Amino acid sequence: MVLCGTELIWEGKYDLAGNRIPVRADDCESALLEIERIERPRKAGAPDQPRSFLAADQGPIGDFDNRLVWGDNGLVLPRLAKDFRAAVDLIYIDPPFNVGTDFVMDAPSGATADEPASGRGRFAYRDSWGQGEGAYLQMIHERLVLLRELLSERGTIYVHCDYRVSHYVRMILDEIFGPQNYRNELIWCYRGGGVPRNDFAAKHDTIFRYTKSDEYIFNADEVRIPYSPDVQASLASRYDKSYRSNKVYEGYRPNVLGKHPEDWWLIQPIMPSDRTERLDYPTQKPVELIQRMVDASSRPDSLVLDAFCGSGTTLAVAEGLRVKREMIGGKERLRYYYAEPRRWIGVDIGRFAMHTSRKRLIELQRVRQAQGAAYRSFGVYGLGDAERRRWYGKFAGDNRRSYCKTILESFGAEPSGEQGCEQPTLDGKKQGVPCHVLDVNATFTRAMAEDLLKRVTAEHFNQCYCLAWAFAHNLPAEIEELEQKHGVRLRLVQIPREIIDAPGRKVPWFQAAILKVQPMISIAPAGEKLMDVRLESYLRESAEVAPEEFDTRRSQEPGTGIELLDFWAVDFDWQDDKPFTQHWQDYRTRKKPCVETVSNAGSSHAATGEQMVAVKAIDTFGYETVVTAVC
Ligand SMILES: C[S@@+](CC[C@H](N)C(=O)[O-])C[C@H]1O[C@@H](n2cnc3c(N)ncnc32)[C@H](O)[C@@H]1O
Repeated sequence: MVLCGTELIWEGKYDLAGNRIPVRADDCESALLEIERIERPRKAGAPDQPRSFLAADQGPIGDFDNRLVWGDNGLVLPRLAKDFRAAVDLIYIDPPFNVGTDFVMDAPSGATADEPASGRGRFAYRDSWGQGEGAYLQMIHERLVLLRELLSERGTIYVHCDYRVSHYVRMILDEIFGPQNYRNELIWCYRGGGVPRNDFAAKHDTIFRYTKSDEYIFNADEVRIPYSPDVQASLASRYDKSYRSNKVYEGYRPNVLGKHPEDWWLIQPIMPSDRTERLDYPTQKPVELIQRMVDASSRPDSLVLDAFCGSGTTLAVAEGLRVKREMIGGKERLRYYYAEPRRWIGVDIGRFAMHTSRKRLIELQRVRQAQGAAYRSFGVYGLGDAERRRWYGKFAGDNRRSYCKTILESFGAEPSGEQGCEQPTLDGKKQGVPCHVLDVNATFTRAMAEDLLKRVTAEHFNQCYCLAWAFAHNLPAEIEELEQKHGVRLRLVQIPREIIDAPGRKVPWFQAAILKVQPMISIAPAGEKLMDVRLESYLRESAEVAPEEFDTRRSQEPGTGIELLDFWAVDFDWQDDKPFTQHWQDYRTRKKPCVETVSNAGSSHAATGEQMVAVKAIDTFGYETVVTAVC
């Protein structure tokens, strides 16, 4: 018997009995939650108007709001497959390459005056996978199986990697998509940067291109590369005849749109000196690279997906952003312009990726609005507590004691003895101060705070830490009043999500931020209420700050701490059961290194009746805080 075919095997592909472990594409008990909605930038003084969608939005799934989804794509993709199975025409992924390190992001300029230079890099994402390649290959295999479910019959997937994993990734792609659906191994090459002393310089990445079938979208004319000015000047005579060995090809006319692109693309990466595209997100890809794939393999009615979207480059290109090289005054320059947008979905696990993409896409919406062009709304989605619950089941062994132990040890506290964690009151101690760890799926509310303070008093302590994943919106700002009432200091400490993504890593712990805002109401000549909001103060302190120092900073003058904010937005009609709708927002940019302290929305409302206003602020650490006020 002749055996043929080869198979890549890694730890985790088969179980001990030799059976293939299936990828559970149906592992999705809970749906994606829309947590935020970005409809459109609203002009100061302009009353709210109904949403407008593009007239051309007649894709297979009807009206569409773009989606930015925060979470592990291993959990997000099965949920997307419920609604978008075989509906995505173009998938581009640029996953971690198994580099074996963490990537950090520089804090926004002007953000770090008080921080030591060594603390300025914020953790962006992990690219270390323990011993061997098994964990990495298992992750990429699972994701590619899920992505195939989403790809349409006319769809194309582009998978970006480099020499570290490209040999494995191609075999996995062959296995999932079939070798007959292999289309290209694209080489993205570039110049510059360091060179090794004893080797050739590695100056290319690999992008594999596979399709779902052989009836796929390929718009060759959209991606032709213009001939050089010299060639253009002599096109007719130059190509009248062409000679190849002993053959003569007569009457050959090159395409006026340019030459058919090769499978190697010389495009410069984003340089540190770049002042236009660079967003300080590590491994951000240039628009010029992504647009070639979007232009070649999608149409205006297409849905585009990037499941590792990082700074949102694919989403920006899907939104219409394009760049062209032009000679101006003898120098080559990049000119940015807009093409017809596609619908898009972006997914990323990282808080900085979410935040960078959100700002980038809002900025594009603003430009589109200024141009009078149509654009789509987008929503920010999350998994709620699904990731935490999965982590609790898988890594904390579904056992409250080991859950508390993991959390407390990361916080630098000692878990209590045998029965400590079983009574969810005081689960451990940090330097003699008791710690209470909130359950994985709970939000710490005012009623819980009252109850905890009573128990702490009964046990004769005068301070306590409460470690929680989520706090009721206004609680951090109200805690001082509760502390005075009970005569006990209560430190609200946010459990960092990074302990799920990167267990064992030393991550900074912060206290829940205290954001104070002041609604501003005036009455317009026509009698309606005009609303705006002023930021009063913002306080986010390390969990290590001594209690007395924290108390002093908490009673600081209004106006301080706002320099730590990178972004804030207002929902002038907040409803508890609806996603936060951004009616107005402001954020730092390279040119504007601090946020406005007063909104200028002039949001217009009926003169009578009360309504809730909500403010969401995101600081330079990427942490969000929401407060609400009645107006
Ligand atoms: C190489 S970067 C992508 C950069 C992106 N192409 C750009 O232009 O900015 C890889 C991204 O994958 C994200 N990532 C890693 N593991 C993930 C997972 N399991 N689910 C979702 N995103 C993940 C990281 O947070 C990171 O932003």
